[in-house]
Amino acid sequence: MKLYCGKDYKEMSRIAANIISAQVVLKPDCVLGLATGSTPVGTYEKLVERYKEGDLDFSQVTSVNLDEYKGLSGDNDQSYRYFMNKNLFDHVNIDKNRTYVPDGLEPDSDKASREYDEIIESVGGVDLQLLGIGHNGHIGFNEPADEFCRGTHCVDLAASTIEANKRFFEKEEDVPRQAYTMGIGTIMRARKILLLASGEDKAEIIARALTGPVTPKVPASILQFHNDVTVVCDEAAFSKMKF
Ligand code: PGA
Repeated sequence: MKLYCGKDYKEMSRIAANIISAQVVLKPDCVLGLATGSTPVGTYEKLVERYKEGDLDFSQVTSVNLDEYKGLSGDNDQSYRYFMNKNLFDHVNIDKNRTYVPDGLEPDSDKASREYDEIIESVGGVDLQLLGIGHNGHIGFNEPADEFCRGTHCVDLAASTIEANKRFFEKEEDVPRQAYTMGIGTIMRARKILLLASGEDKAEIIARALTGPVTPKVPASILQFHNDVTVVCDEAAFSKMKF
């Protein structure tokens, strides 16, 4: 596991963007696994900057996102499809037909999950998977559970996740209670993983996930078993790590 510590959020974002840029330069037709949430926003801004400066070309890139709220359409401004368009896809030359997000409007969870897994398989799996981490250790929407889940599935969001995400919605009741998420098995099959965290509120979970026992109660802890993980944090998020 490689650990990079940026001074602050801005530096964390710059380092993360460097790593993603390197992936795109070295393999222009790579498959990027992408994430939403507040953590990667600065990384996407940097990638857009580099594209505008002429240093990055997304024309052959394919992307698969980690998750989507069940019940939200792509034009709902709280959907993760909307987030990706607004923060990255609308500003770079990626072919939107090759950007995949689970279909939040598919009511049949088995069908939505099966179809998403087929897509991931058909594009050849993920070369570089970007991840944030929830305060409870979730990655994607793989919430703490009794076992690790292999493929895409529908999850009931944990109360703490609903609480953390309500800031984006008008009222707490508006936060969807379910989501489709890529499974831990799929995340672990990504050839490279890039985990980001910023802020003191993530320090405890980063220390537990990276140095504590590997358990589905802390889903991100499974990353200790992956052989190509890069973790980029700011100083605050690394403040409880014992080196
Ligand atoms: P955040 O969410 O980036 O908004 O902190 C991370 C996550 O819940 O995975």
